[in-house]
Amino acid sequence: MAILLTGGMGFIGSHTAVELINEGYEVIIADNLSNSSPKVLERIETITGTKPLFYEIDVAVKKDVEKVFDENKIEGVVHFAGYKSVPESTRIPLSYYRNNIDTALTVLEVMKERDCRTFVFSSSATVYGDKNKAPFNEEMPTSTSTNAYGNTKLMIEQIVRDFSASWEDFSAVLLRYFNPIGAHPSGLIGEAPDGIPNNLMPYITQTAVGVREFLGVFGTDYDTPDGTGVRDFIHVVDLARGHVAAIGYALKSKGTEAVNLGTGNGSSVLEVVHTFEEANDLKIPVKLLPRRPGDVATSFALATKAKELLGWEAKLTLFDMCKDSWNWQKNNPKGYN
Ligand code: UFG
Repeated sequence: MAILLTGGMGFIGSHTAVELINEGYEVIIADNLSNSSPKVLERIETITGTKPLFYEIDVAVKKDVEKVFDENKIEGVVHFAGYKSVPESTRIPLSYYRNNIDTALTVLEVMKERDCRTFVFSSSATVYGDKNKAPFNEEMPTSTSTNAYGNTKLMIEQIVRDFSASWEDFSAVLLRYFNPIGAHPSGLIGEAPDGIPNNLMPYITQTAVGVREFLGVFGTDYDTPDGTGVRDFIHVVDLARGHVAAIGYALKSKGTEAVNLGTGNGSSVLEVVHTFEEANDLKIPVKLLPRRPGDVATSFALATKAKELLGWEAKLTLFDMCKDSWNWQKNNPKGYN
């Protein structure tokens, strides 16, 4: 009995593969490598001693997904596959809708055909929109966002809920990620963005390694303690363990639950910069810039549901996240290249 990770070669997928293997699960990965490296597989093997079975397929192609189900006994699916850049999604929204919705629909269709009843989805705190006030809890109304990426997450949550309502034995957990950073402490797997990073931590580490000249801090006049944006940064290893807990829960339940994966604490952009400097004995040149369009001032989770329902909580600190992010970047200055 195996767990299929679609998009399992990516940043969060690869860390989840490691944690699932560590917990004794058989892991199978399906990924078209559109935004990831084949080297991830060997790295997972180096860390765990086990090389997951790998299918280089596009999970929007139904016959290819059916083949994976025909050749294996798949007990559950963690669906990561999808495009994930907020700014890119505003430039090419149709590609985001086509790819993200198609992959989710295809995977769910094949699960129904093959009677596979356990599903975990890679959702995002972006579904809380800009009207709710942090801490965000799972009962709050969700809303559309200013970008197609966020809207695909919201739409797929709805698709899963409708599907779940039609199939009594189906079980799904919609994991709403806050801001995953950090890397595996081995320094063998981590975040490897293509081109100029959009997200804070890869920008900091690329500045530290000398690829970028300085970090632009977007907005210093927010209603926050130091004026910079506040986010709930969570170590990717904690996040990955949250998926293990979610699969364990979903395998023995029915119905759909949305669950936040966050620490429950907010840290400001400047706090992250200062913690990174302290943890790694480095200086990050910063330039204070105007706000970035579409950003909210403050986002952090109410993290109690994950603890009550899944028995999971984040354990690693911002200091750990900063140390491990740098350990990954300095050992892999060009990512997997
Ligand atoms: N920031 C900077 N400089 C940078 C990059 C980011 O100051 O170079 C700031 C942002 O303005 C924001 C904070 O750092 O205040 C965090 O920004 P990120 O881009 O790292 O993360 P976001 O919170 O904007 O985005 C994350 C996920 C998205 C998700 C979104 C909403 O990356 O997938 O949260 O939940 F949609």
